[in-house]
Amino acid sequence: MSTRSLGPTGLDVHPVGLGCMGMSWGYAESQRDDEVSLAVIRQALDAGPVLLDTADAYGDGHNETLVGRALALAGRRHDAVVATKTGIVVDDLATRTLSRDGSPEHIRRSADASLKRLGVDVIDLYYLHRVDPAVPLQESWGALSELVRAGKVRHLGLSEVTREQAAAAHRVHPVAAVQSELSLWTREPLDPGTGISGWCAAHGAAFVPFAPLGRGFLTGRYTRPDDFEAGDFRATNPRFTGAAFTANLRITDAVRKVAARHDATAAQVALAWTLAQGGHVVPVPGTKQPRYLTDNLAAAALRLTAADLSDLDGAPAATGSRY
Ligand SMILES: NC(=O)c1ccc[n+]([C@@H]2O[C@H](COP(=O)([O-])OP(=O)(O)OC[C@H]3O[C@@H](n4cnc5c(N)ncnc54)[C@H](OP(=O)(O)O)[C@@H]3O)[C@@H](O)[C@H]2O)c1
Repeated sequence: MSTRSLGPTGLDVHPVGLGCMGMSWGYAESQRDDEVSLAVIRQALDAGPVLLDTADAYGDGHNETLVGRALALAGRRHDAVVATKTGIVVDDLATRTLSRDGSPEHIRRSADASLKRLGVDVIDLYYLHRVDPAVPLQESWGALSELVRAGKVRHLGLSEVTREQAAAAHRVHPVAAVQSELSLWTREPLDPGTGISGWCAAHGAAFVPFAPLGRGFLTGRYTRPDDFEAGDFRATNPRFTGAAFTANLRITDAVRKVAARHDATAAQVALAWTLAQGGHVVPVPGTKQPRYLTDNLAAAALRLTAADLSDLDGAPAATGSRY
């Protein structure tokens, strides 16, 4: 199995990780099943060092508890690579009302709560999920670096930050990874002037694309805007609704054409495109289904040609904003 080094952490991980969010949060609640989700996480643990991505906000602790249960069931607390996040507070789970809290007190408290839910002594990679505009980043990052000194966390990451924010944090404590949305329909992190992926490559940090499958859209699985149940984030998302949905199908068509050349799935092509953006890139596609995890992990072996990449890069830009 090929691996990629996760920034400066010394950890070698499968090139494709597993995003656990959808098992607890965000999409199609009627399709969530904890027992199947546990099987998916265990499948990832058996596939080698697959980066598991969770956060305390996903289901307000439910997702970390699920990951913790899978680690305990598999007896794999010590060799799993687990990333979680702090800094987003769930004010109301039913309506998914969120706020930010990057205060040192909140960070210390939530780290202890995450360790407990995950059932581990140390978190491999701990992200600040969002910068809190009410708290200077250096203050939040300082509190996070104290957690490293205390042995509760191994490495630190940031999510959805600018190059300037990453550089400011890096001066206080090394940034091991940055996580931002990157996929064929969200390419801003690759901007040569401002993109965060380039900053990561230049500073030895890993870049972790989230939603690399365009929240499922790029897999070609969805054909109509009303494919999403009430409460699913996509049911009201600008890219998945109305005329934007139809316009965006042209992106999926481009992915499908390349997939046909390789006898691969569209999901695999979408992931291989993110992997082709640099050796420092480790995407975390989300799934709660065993067959999709198998499909996604196999994308690491798919080699896109220069012509494939050119065709994919030439796919139309997305219609509609990300949120
Ligand atoms: N830092 C942040 O702010 C942030 C924000 C969003 C997400 N994330 C992280 O990134 C991870 C991935 O993002 P995401 O889950 O939002 O979006 P995603 O990975 O782009 O897409 C997930 C969707 O794709 C479907 N899918 C996965 N593999 C498939 C395959 N091979 N064939 C067909 N369909 C497939 C899933 O279906 P099923 O659910 O049916 O399996 C799900 O509906 C999350 O789990 C989370 O850990 C981080």
